[in-house]
Amino acid sequence: MAFDKEIERRKTFAIISHPDAGKTTLTEKFLLFGGQIQTAGAVKSNKIKKTATSDFMEIEKQRGISVATSVMSFEYKGKLVNILDTPGHKDFAEDTYRTLTAVDSVILVIDCVKGVEEQTERLMEVCRMRRTPVIVFINKMDRDGKDPFDLLDELEAKLNIHVHPLSWPINGGSDFKGVYLLHDQSLNLFESNKTKLAEDVVKVQGLEDARIDELVGDKNARKLREDAELIEGVYGDLDVKNYLQADVAPVFFGSALNNFGIQELLDTFIDIAPVPMPRPAGERVVDPHEQKFSGFIFKIHANLDPKHRDRIAFLRVCSGRFERNKPYEHTRLHKPLRFSNPYTFLAQSKEVIDYAYPGDVVGLYDTGNFKIGDTLTEGEDLQFKGIPSFSPEIFKELINLDPMKSKQLEKGIQQLTDEGLASLFIQEPGSRKFVGTVGELQFEVLQYRLEHEYNAKCRFEARNVHKACWMSGDEAKVKEFMKFRMNNIAWDKDNHPVFLAETAFVLRMAQENNPDITFHTTSEFKV
Ligand code: G4P
Repeated sequence: MAFDKEIERRKTFAIISHPDAGKTTLTEKFLLFGGQIQTAGAVKSNKIKKTATSDFMEIEKQRGISVATSVMSFEYKGKLVNILDTPGHKDFAEDTYRTLTAVDSVILVIDCVKGVEEQTERLMEVCRMRRTPVIVFINKMDRDGKDPFDLLDELEAKLNIHVHPLSWPINGGSDFKGVYLLHDQSLNLFESNKTKLAEDVVKVQGLEDARIDELVGDKNARKLREDAELIEGVYGDLDVKNYLQADVAPVFFGSALNNFGIQELLDTFIDIAPVPMPRPAGERVVDPHEQKFSGFIFKIHANLDPKHRDRIAFLRVCSGRFERNKPYEHTRLHKPLRFSNPYTFLAQSKEVIDYAYPGDVVGLYDTGNFKIGDTLTEGEDLQFKGIPSFSPEIFKELINLDPMKSKQLEKGIQQLTDEGLASLFIQEPGSRKFVGTVGELQFEVLQYRLEHEYNAKCRFEARNVHKACWMSGDEAKVKEFMKFRMNNIAWDKDNHPVFLAETAFVLRMAQENNPDITFHTTSEFKV
């Protein structure tokens, strides 16, 4: 197939949700519809179970399994769909943020009972920053949930995005009758069924069709007509351009568990979701159709099993064709690298590949060359943007417990933070190391791995840091501020200074007293 056609048929996206909203179930149903798996339950193993929160080895084991399902590809209606899996566990939210830099769009799953939950807000913040197009799937309509209009309002208010319903529920919970497809003038009738794939869609002649009354009852039909009129008045027609610019999110209602509402979601996704898009690099914007290959590493996974001490770097292809055994330039190290066993994933199985195209994700065996955010090219000096660091939530100082092993500890903490397991901030003079994470779990993982992989004993001491802030603005003023607040300044992995603010109040005061400096809680911002 011609190169351009290969690009145009790819849809690379992630399904995101607050844990338990139904991400795994929906992923599985997409794979069922895509013919990649035959039975429900096949991808359940990629879920990090809640019960395992206190046992990180168990979680790591499960993460290990999830490597196999990191990318799931299937063909549907002539398109190649790449679903990038994201960990559900809150402590690994950073992994999810990074994965979002490698997709062209997302489907956001909301539990209709719970509405917009905390983690969803943060995930959407990342999508908004990157202007990633979003489709919303309101799940679990077989349960008594919130009023659909209230849910739409909540989405707009909490996620700061305009919504546009494309389907509309008729009741919910035990009385759930189905959805009306607003732009297709058809009725999709609900039947609680976990195995059947085909949906019961009845074409009607618009909302006035008397068959609606027959099928869902007079009262429900009347309510549907009233709702639809309101929706028409408020939302009008969907302009796909607005979706592609991430201004409007189309919304569907359904029940993943019951295979309900999946077909219209998948069909619309295939129709409107963006194909691989141009990507900004520090130097210029890279178009996927360019002949020369380029790509970046968005995730690194190390195997905890001592028998298989391999790291896998996940590369998103951004332009040109990636080829096996061809030497590529590692632009940070200025080093040529060649990959003899790059692989891709098809549902559960890994396959060595010869080629990959923009939109694809390739697994590369890594012996320690890669950091998250590294770029590979055919020689051009490029560095892809868009892998921001976020201010961690928890900060601890790394204390060396064995002075004879300082070198090992130094190397270990550098490599593990390169993997993205945690953020490292170094304070000079004295080389004090502050480690920041999203959850407590990472400290356990770090301590265990430092001891078992690097033979370095350490402990972590809690430090009173509220946020790590990157600074921009008047250069002289920033320098002056840094001098003045020397004890609170540290350096991130890219050698950028950060201000470690002890409390929200300290940060607010710093902001007020230094109007020429802007404090950012992500490492990437528009200056
Ligand atoms: P997650 O990946 O977002 O964390 O959620 P997941 O798909 O694992 O779903 C969380 C729970 O919600 C699961 O139940 C799942 O069966 C259920 N669920 C998903 N979709 C629907 C739906 O449309 N309706 C209803 N009623 N439930 C739904 P569980 O009991 O936690 O897990 P399991 O024992 O079923 O695997």
